[in-house]
Formats: sequence, C-alpha cells, structure tokens
Amino acid sequence: MIILGIETSCDESAASIIKVNKKNKEVQVLSNIISSQIEIHQKYGGVVPEVAAREHVFNLLPVINKSLKKANLNISKVDEIVVTTGPGLITSLITGVQTAKTLSYAFNKKLKGVDHISGHIYSPFIDNWKNIKFPAMSLTVSGGHTNLVLMLSETKIKKIGKSLDDAAGEAYDKAAKMMGLGYPGGPIISTLGQSFLDLSIENKLEKLPRPMLHSPNFNFSFSGLKTSLLYRLQKDKNWKKNIAEYCYLYQEAITEILIKKTLKAAKKYQVKSILVSGGVSANKQLRQGFTAISQKENLKLFLSDLQYTTDNATMIAMASIFTENTNIKDNWKKLKAKTESDFK
Ligand code: KG4
Ligand code: ZN
Repeated sequence: MIILGIETSCDESAASIIKVNKKNKEVQVLSNIISSQIEIHQKYGGVVPEVAAREHVFNLLPVINKSLKKANLNISKVDEIVVTTGPGLITSLITGVQTAKTLSYAFNKKLKGVDHISGHIYSPFIDNWKNIKFPAMSLTVSGGHTNLVLMLSETKIKKIGKSLDDAAGEAYDKAAKMMGLGYPGGPIISTLGQSFLDLSIENKLEKLPRPMLHSPNFNFSFSGLKTSLLYRLQKDKNWKKNIAEYCYLYQEAITEILIKKTLKAAKKYQVKSILVSGGVSANKQLRQGFTAISQKENLKLFLSDLQYTTDNATMIAMASIFTENTNIKDNWKKLKAKTESDFK
C-alpha cells in the first residue's frame, strides 16, 4: 500500500510517501519533504498564524509534487491520502485539509484524517515497527504537548499523564524569548547549554527547581520552572555573562523531570519498551539521558529518528496505519455527490 501524507498544522509544509507492508510490519520511506517557515517567523519571535497559512498556500503543492518526484511516483499509484486534521493552527490545518480533499476528489483517492499527536506517538514506529515490544511507555514532547501514553498494543493506548500548563517545548521557547535568544528556543538553549558543558567548568549557580518531579501522578508542570528562571535572571546583574550556564541549568531541569517521570511510569506499568518523540526529543542531552537510563534498567528504547522528531508528514502517514479516521467533518461522500449534482 502506498500512502501520501500531508502535514500543515503549524509552520512546516510537509509531504511524504511511504510504502507499507502490514504483514511484515515494514515501512519504506520513499520521500520525506519539509518546507520550513522558521526564518519567516523568527523576526516575530514566534509563529504568526495568518502568515503561516499564507506560506502553506504557496508551498504545499510544490512540496507534494517534490515528494512524488523524489519517490519516483505518479499520483495515480497512491492508494490513500492522509492529512493532519488537528490539533494545530486552524488556518494552517485548513490549507492542508482542503488540499488533501481536492486531490482526493480530483484523483479519486481514499482520504483519511490523522491526529497530529498520534503522528508524533507513532514516529518511532517508522524505523522500528516490528522491534517495539508491548506494553510500551510513550513520551511525546513537542511545542504544544507533553504526554505520557501507555501503549498496551499498537492500537490500545491510554494517556496517563500530561502537562498541566506549558508543554516542554513551549517552556524552551518562552525561556529563550525571555533571554532574547530567538525562536525556536529549544535548539538555541540546547546549543548554549551544551557549550557550557563542553567547557567542563564547574557550576557556579544554584540549580533550578524540578516542579512536580515527586507528585503522585504522571503529570508535568513547566510554567513554574520558567518563572523561577525569570526571578533568577532578575536578581543576577551578570545574567548575560552567565547565559550559557542558565541554559544548561534550564535544560538539565527539563531533562531530569522528563526522564525520571517516564521511568517511574515505565516501572509502574512494567513496560518492555520506551518510546520518545516530538520536537524536544531532538535534544541531545535528553537522548543521551534516555539512552543511559534504558541501558541501566534493561528497557528497549526507541527514540524517534532525528529527521522525524520535529513536524513531518512521514509520521502522519505512519500513524494513519494504526488510527481511526479523525473528524474530517463534512461527510466526504455527501459533499462529492452534492458537487456532482451542482455541476449537472
Ligand atoms: O514537534 P514540534 O516540531 O512541533 C509541535 O508539534 O509543537 O516541536 C517543536 C518544539 C519547539 O518548542 C522547539 O523549541 C522544540 O520542539 N525543539 C527542541 C529542540 N529542537 C526542537 N527542544 C529542545 N532541544 C532541541 N534540540
Ligand atoms: Zn508536532
């Protein structure tokens, strides 16, 4: 089966073609094309929804064409078109959904809606579908979500924890903005934090707190951490000189909370595998930390491949294999019948 995936939930216009062999649990990624708008939004310090939607209009069809070309396929060979239906920026989502609907109508292809977070959850399956053992604990850390999900099987999944306020990626982005470092904050804080580590100098500054690390549930909270950093910067006249160390401390706090809570959940539910996905899972310290802890605890670790951590359409195509069709609200068949009768 050949699937064309389309993703436009935020500021990436993305299309992907995958070839699926369900019986062997194998996926071949024929193309994974991403057109990022980061440079455009950087000057505003974050994504501007209206600008993002307009850029999708310009970029999406060329991106889809490129993905077909890279896969060396004509659209007639595609069996199914799948598209992100939410959550995300509504005007961005609409662009992707309308494009997918139009292609489905014009080329008479099946159409399926996919949840964006499911895309992240299933991104480690792209390379490792048949190796993942259940039960598994999945941590998704993106710009909008921080979720712990217990996977009893490929399709039987249950959310057991989430952030009660800011998501981990949001915490990175807001802290970077506070320190005047630009957007997106995760990679910038990570690079500066790593530069402090690479210098191998001793910490001068006190650690930052770990909110909800010992709470009796699997929820997270990051907005207090961001406020703690703000108060520390306000008290420190030399904070600009110490900025790399503050980035290191901030990253250290987020990483420790994410790893320890995931491990606690993994132990409680006696899982065999840990899955980590979402934009923040590109973080080097987080990847190293999870690698070390899973070796120590004898758990199989499946980190999303780096190219599938931030938003992409391959993960959307992958998730469509395991998930129900999500809310493409108008009944497509009815709409098609109406359009046809309108043109008679
Ligand atoms: O999954 P994603 O591309 O988009 C959402 O669905 O939100 O995640 C984007 C988030 C941003 O908050 C960004 O700062 C963060 O992922 N991020 C990182 C790194 N790369 C991206 N956070 C920490 N370290 C990184 N290396
Ligand atoms: Zn995402």
